Amino acid sequence: MTKAVLLTGGAGFIGSNFVHMLAELRPDWRIVNLDALTYAGNAANLAAVEGRDEYHFVHGDIRERADVMKALELAKAGGADVYVVHMAAESHVDRSIEGGMPFVTTNVVGTQVMLDCCREAGVARFVHVSTDEVYGSLGDQGFFTESTPLAPNSPYSASKTGSDLLVRAAHHTHGFDAVITRCSNNYGPYQFPEKLLPLIIANAQEDKPLPIYGDGMYVRDWLFVRDHCEAILTVLEKGAAGEVYNIGGNNELPNLELVKQVLAALGKPESLITFVKDRPGHDRRYAIDATKIREQLGWEPRYRFSEALPLTIEWYRSQVEWLQGVRSGAYREYYQRHYDAR
Ligand code: NAD
Ligand code: TYD
Repeated sequence: MTKAVLLTGGAGFIGSNFVHMLAELRPDWRIVNLDALTYAGNAANLAAVEGRDEYHFVHGDIRERADVMKALELAKAGGADVYVVHMAAESHVDRSIEGGMPFVTTNVVGTQVMLDCCREAGVARFVHVSTDEVYGSLGDQGFFTESTPLAPNSPYSASKTGSDLLVRAAHHTHGFDAVITRCSNNYGPYQFPEKLLPLIIANAQEDKPLPIYGDGMYVRDWLFVRDHCEAILTVLEKGAAGEVYNIGGNNELPNLELVKQVLAALGKPESLITFVKDRPGHDRRYAIDATKIREQLGWEPRYRFSEALPLTIEWYRSQVEWLQGVRSGAYREYYQRHYDAR
């Protein structure tokens, strides 16, 4: 039986890495990518798979039933078993602080549209890609486990929590085969440079100030994007319906330390570091306990930070055109609005 993946948000950062991984690891699977190409989606991320047989791009919105049904029809063609990997979302915390409404419509309403259509179409499994941010913030000690209470602090994480609860309800009420993943911060190629790591690499290369919020001692658990993509594939193939799986790198770093490592790798001075006004409601620390996925499904990260960070920096150094493209127009306006008065 043919297998097909209907991926949402496949033109974004994690989505495009997921497409490249799937084309490599499961070359006989059909891939249907449903993406609205918002500011964060970039068709150039997928140039390498464009001409491939059984790769289909649907330019559409997860909030629109007709778009989702069209993508499902393409995926189901010839009676294929369809696995849905749902990762389309508004994903940037700072933008959600500027305005929460797109986060509610895409992340909450869009997820319900996806659940309704996918249930109707009789898909084999629905993998909902969520985030550790649904658990809120940690103090100096402890880790997020799958049973940590949900306590989101930003409009972004609150909308992702809403989507997680709708997925949970679809499983509980309708017996729909759905699985939720909650991952820590990703780094790697194709990340839109509004997020910390590509932003500081891009700025440092041009000797521009690196804006660090607050005291810079906010801690994130960094995971290479390819490891996240492999974890999602593992959950798709081996996870149990109705379960939640945390995914993490066991690699905690304060932002300031991360920035210093990037500067050292680029041979740039630490004087570029510029402390700016803090993010409102800034979560202090995220750290994942990934025991469940490791023990039950046999997944663990393959990439060491000490190898994958230089790989990532080198990717952005070599992708001059890609960076220029994504940092033009709307990005410049966002940057000025967000940082100039900070
Ligand atoms: P991204 O912002 O880079 O990409 C989002 C993609 O979704 C874009 O291609 C965009 O065009 C598309 N999209 C947005 N709204 C849409 C809509 N209404 N209809 C169709 N497509 C739409 O995001 P990312 O960083 O790749 O994150 C992907 C998923 O992973 C998100 O659900 C996010 O919550 C989750 N996640 C991200 C991280 C991280 O570190 N980046 C960590 C954990 C979980
Ligand atoms: P970000 O990449 O936005 O991811 P998230 O908020 O989802 O963890 O930010 C990572 C960390 O870097 C977070 O603590 C906020 C901080 N940060 C800065 O200090 N300066 C910046 O310009 C940005 C974008 C983030």
